[in-house]
Amino acid sequence: MARVIAFVNQKGGVGKTTNTVNLAAIAGQALGSRAGESQILVVSTDPQASAVWWSDRVDEGQLPFDFHQCDDKPDDLARLKLLDQYEYVFVDTPGNIEDEKILSATLDSTDEVVVPLPPEAMAFNPAKRTIEKVLEPKGIPFRILITDWDPRDGTVDLEQTQAYVDSNGWPRLQSVVRHYKIHTRAAAEGQVCTQYPKGRIALEAREDFFRLAMELGIGGRPLPRQTRKRTPVEGKI
Ligand SMILES: Nc1ncnc2c1ncn2[C@@H]1O[C@H](COP(=O)(O)OP(=O)(O)OP(=O)(O)O)[C@@H](O)[C@H]1O
Ligand SMILES: [Mg+2]
Repeated sequence: MARVIAFVNQKGGVGKTTNTVNLAAIAGQALGSRAGESQILVVSTDPQASAVWWSDRVDEGQLPFDFHQCDDKPDDLARLKLLDQYEYVFVDTPGNIEDEKILSATLDSTDEVVVPLPPEAMAFNPAKRTIEKVLEPKGIPFRILITDWDPRDGTVDLEQTQAYVDSNGWPRLQSVVRHYKIHTRAAAEGQVCTQYPKGRIALEAREDFFRLAMELGIGGRPLPRQTRKRTPVEGKI
C-alpha cells in the first residue's frame, strides 16, 4: 500500500504546490527510479493546477516522479492507497474547498496531512478554519509546516507563528522551509529542487526539503529482512 500525504490549506498561495513537488522530487531521488518506474506519484486535485505545468516535464522523463491530474473523479482518489506500484503519493490540493467531494475523497485516502503555513498573521485564520472545519472533524492526522520564511526578516515572525501553532495545540514539524528566490524562479520554469544548478544557494534551498523528508520518515527502503546479517558487538551482547 502506498503512503499518502496531502498538502492542504484553503488559503491560496501558501506553498502547497511548491512543497508537494519539491518533497516528491527529494523522495524520488532518495528512492531512485528507472525511467517510467518511479515509486513516487504526485497527484494534483487543483483544477487550476499550476502543477499541470509539471506534467509535460514528467512526460519527458525530466522529473523523478509520476504525475496525475485528478480534479473531477472522486472514485479515483478513493483508490490512491491501493496503488501498490508507488511507495508514496503526494497530493497537491487547491487553495479553496469549493469542491467538497474531491477534498473529502482525498482526505479519506490520506494517511497524513501537511498544512503549509507562511509566518504571517494573515495566514493564521484560514489555517485555523482548514484545521477546525476540514481536518479535525475527519480525525485525520496533520502537522503544520512553517514555510516560505525569509531569514532576512529576522526571527520575530517565525517565533510568533510557532507560538501561535503551539498555543492552538497543533502538531508542528520542526523543519522550516525557507524563502529562496530560486524556488520561485524554478516554479515558473517547471523545475524541481533536485534539478537546481550546483551552488551554495541551491544546496541550502534543497536542504530544507531533505530535512522535511527525514522528519516525515521518507527515504530509502530498509533491506529485506532475510538479507540483514547481525554482527555481534563485543561486550554489548
Ligand atoms: N519557499 C519558497 N521560496 C520562494 N518562493 C516560494 C516558496 N514557497 C512558495 N513560493 C512561491 O509562492 C507562490 C505560491 O506558492 P504555491 O504555488 O506553492 O502556493 P499554493 O498554496 O500551491 O497556491 P494555490 O493555492 O494558488 O495553488 C509561488 O510563486 C511560489 O513559487
Ligand atoms: Mg497550488
